[in-house]
Amino acid sequence: VTIRLSISAILRPLAGAAAALAALLALSGCEDSYPLDLRYPPRTDPLVVKAPVRELPYPDRPGQLPLFTFADLREVHNPLHYQIVENLNDVRDPVLVPAEQRQELYAFLEESFGTPAQPRVQAAPDSELEQLLARARAELKLEPEILERGSVLYRGQCLHCHGLTGNGQGPTARWVNPHPRDYRQGVFKFTSTSQDLGVRKARRDDLLRTLRQGVDGTSMPSFGLLSEQDLEALASYVIHLSMRGQVEYNVLGYIMQTASLDQTVPELAAAFLAQIANNWLEAQASIIEPTPYPYDWNSAEGEEALRKSIERGRDAFLKPGTAGCIACHPNYGRQSTYRFDVWGTMVRPTDLTRGVYRGGRRPVDLYWRIYGGINGALMADFGKALQADAKARQIDADLVWDLVNFLQVLPHEKMRQKYGIQINRDH
Ligand code: HEC
Ligand code: HEC
Repeated sequence: VTIRLSISAILRPLAGAAAALAALLALSGCEDSYPLDLRYPPRTDPLVVKAPVRELPYPDRPGQLPLFTFADLREVHNPLHYQIVENLNDVRDPVLVPAEQRQELYAFLEESFGTPAQPRVQAAPDSELEQLLARARAELKLEPEILERGSVLYRGQCLHCHGLTGNGQGPTARWVNPHPRDYRQGVFKFTSTSQDLGVRKARRDDLLRTLRQGVDGTSMPSFGLLSEQDLEALASYVIHLSMRGQVEYNVLGYIMQTASLDQTVPELAAAFLAQIANNWLEAQASIIEPTPYPYDWNSAEGEEALRKSIERGRDAFLKPGTAGCIACHPNYGRQSTYRFDVWGTMVRPTDLTRGVYRGGRRPVDLYWRIYGGINGALMADFGKALQADAKARQIDADLVWDLVNFLQVLPHEKMRQKYGIQINRDH
């Protein structure tokens, strides 16, 4: 068994490389849609099972994707090189999954999700899974015609950054920092959904907001000039790629962690797909509803209440305990270090004195960010803890709005003077 494994371990990456090359050749055509015989290539890049824990003084170098292949980890300049020595289990090589199981997995994925030219989300007719997926197609707009349109647009607008499978490893990806999102973990950062961090999905509106506005301060552009219909189709296609990628990620991860399966691979994949489809459906209905904005700027009392709110926000930001934002955003983020996110790429807690927000700059966007946290970037969800804290201290206010008010003052010197906020002391 050892010999069979090691030989196939050598051959499999080669097969992966050949498939990638074939895909690239096929992609260089001038058609709008993908060639009919093109398939989504199997995953060959490492699987991050748990976010690496180190902090680093600098990000990865231009042109470098730390987790492009497992072998890259052996390079001493790779920021994740230490994983090889310390925590090998947190980053795993999917190429080591036995060929037979991989074949079963990729047959299942093609059955369920189709090909780049003919994407779909479906299961065997009359199966229980198909009932759920029919609902998902209707509610998440995953009908084949919409996905086909989305796939054509994606090929033209998004592929060069986000990659054919949504792996975030298109040809441009290694040159931009932060690197484009890898959809295959099913994790999105800028969401307004209240489910737990880790499993919660984006609402379609969140994806559409990202597409219309782009991601400020990163290379992700705004696609606001596309028609509503095209934006909708793109959001659908992102969900499709994400569902497909996450089934792949979950199954590969599960096989690598489990000594012997008590299910067949297609059964396992179907169970994961059902769970993922459910999570997407649930997310659509679980928006975080902010409490009404309590401060009226137009009266003297309102102004005084606002001042108190900003001060409470500052205290919550600085004091360890419920919020203690300063722990991750030292010196208001001006001295943040680089750390790893759940994708194994690097993230730096935002410099909040700059007023540049990736997830949108409206007060409600900041409310959602603080209440629900930033999925994948490991910023915790503070909403419930802040509300409990206010109750315990008998403060009749929403501390989340207090923090939003404080954050909105922070970048502007005149506003800081007006509300007595000092940011040039040591914190
Ligand atoms: C020039 C590169 C580039 C292009 C082109 C691009 N993106 Fe992005 N995309 C990014 C980057 C960079 C991020 C943000 C990464 C981060 O914040 O960590 C991102 C993030 C995203 C996200 C995740 C938002 C979240 O909440 O986590 C989605 C969805 C997305 N892009 C969709 C698209 C779609 C659809 C297209 C094509 C219409 C597209 N992108 C084109 C670079 C790109
Ligand atoms: C465990 C670490 C951690 C803690 C604690 C933390 N943050 Fe963050 N925060 C981050 C990281 C990492 C990012 C960067 C995410 C990114 O750019 O994708 C971030 C980004 C932000 C952003 C920018 C959002 C955007 O749209 O770009 C805001 C605003 C923010 N944090 C506010 C806060 C507030 C307020 C608190 C306290 C209630 C807080 N953070 C506590 C890690 C943390």
